[in-house]
Amino acid sequence: MNSEGTVMDLLSPARLGPLDLPNRLVMAPMTRNRAAADGTPGPLMAAYYAQRATAGLIVAEATTPNAVGRTYPNIPGIYAPEHVAGWRGVTGAVRAAGGRMFLQLQHGGRVGHPANSGLVPLAPSPVALGEPVHTGGGPLPAPVPREMTVRDVQATVADFAAAARNAVAAGFDGVEVHAANGYLLHQFLAGNTNRRTDAYGGTVAGRVRFTVQVVRAVAAAVGAERVGVRIAPGVTVNGIAEDDTAVLYRTLAGELAGDGLAYLHVVFADPGDALFGELRAAWPGVLIGNPRLPWPGPPPADGGRAAGERLLAAGADLVALGRAFLANPDLVERLRTGAPLNPVRDRYLMYTGGAEGYTDYPALAS
Ligand SMILES: Cc1cc2nc3c(=O)[nH]c(=O)nc-3n(C[C@H](O)[C@H](O)[C@H](O)COP(=O)(O)O)c2cc1C
Repeated sequence: MNSEGTVMDLLSPARLGPLDLPNRLVMAPMTRNRAAADGTPGPLMAAYYAQRATAGLIVAEATTPNAVGRTYPNIPGIYAPEHVAGWRGVTGAVRAAGGRMFLQLQHGGRVGHPANSGLVPLAPSPVALGEPVHTGGGPLPAPVPREMTVRDVQATVADFAAAARNAVAAGFDGVEVHAANGYLLHQFLAGNTNRRTDAYGGTVAGRVRFTVQVVRAVAAAVGAERVGVRIAPGVTVNGIAEDDTAVLYRTLAGELAGDGLAYLHVVFADPGDALFGELRAAWPGVLIGNPRLPWPGPPPADGGRAAGERLLAAGADLVALGRAFLANPDLVERLRTGAPLNPVRDRYLMYTGGAEGYTDYPALAS
């Protein structure tokens, strides 16, 4: 059973805090590297998101809350007035097309490079990523990050809150705090990247502290009903190794369960996994499941529909799909009519810039 106590299909309406969603399909956040070099979004991004406005909810791509948190080239920011003005163009286009949109806030932590940000990356501990980081000049070895002081931790919490305020000023319906996929918050959660001996490390209670503080500061800034959290239990991307996944996420979900947040968003959710059921039971609000599909390699021909329906049956309220939305601006209509889906092209054309592989995926002929 989901949080409404019912089992629904993907195309049925849902409620998300103050928002009415016309369907249960969420466009998962996807980095596409189409912002200007300074992180300002432009009209091409507005066109891309407006094409996908029939999603029940769009979660816009990972966006940097401060300069040092920048991961890769052409990642959008939300800490400067130009960023807010640029995003206003995007949210205006999505709203005009009838859509609703959250913004994902991502600090890269050790997943960054001075070639991208001009700054030495900050992380819980000075443990370098064991793989290259993509820069404007191609992949470069990851630097050893500087260990965050408690003052850095507090300043970063404040930067997240300010970024959330900016996002709402830019017209977003809310923000998603990115605690998944090996970026800064996940680096605090996982024991192999968090070697701290102070209040932000060591025990599970210590390792969840930073994420809880970020989420609470963001909720205090813009209202809990506008704040979601994305987690990736057991996911090892960006060199993450958790040795206590179940207790870690049970603890985190338990800490945040009473805060009235908009949603908890679980990456690679699998209804056959005991932890998924435990998170469902522990989380009283909206639960978004991003189903575990073949990865890497192409998603299934149905884009994830069958896997998404299994997640709904197992208690998810909403289903996030990434690659299916990337390749199908009218995914909702295609699922409604049973039309075939466009396949994803060539490595997502992430670092190429421009419209190719971005806004040129065709919609069904009307
Ligand atoms: C091109 C691309 C960029 C992505 N960027 C992000 C991101 O910015 N933030 C994030 O949390 N996940 C990101 N992801 C992961 C997706 O949100 C999603 O979890 C993943 O694609 C699995 O869903 P799918 O099987 O429906 O594609 C990205 C995935 C792809 C394919």
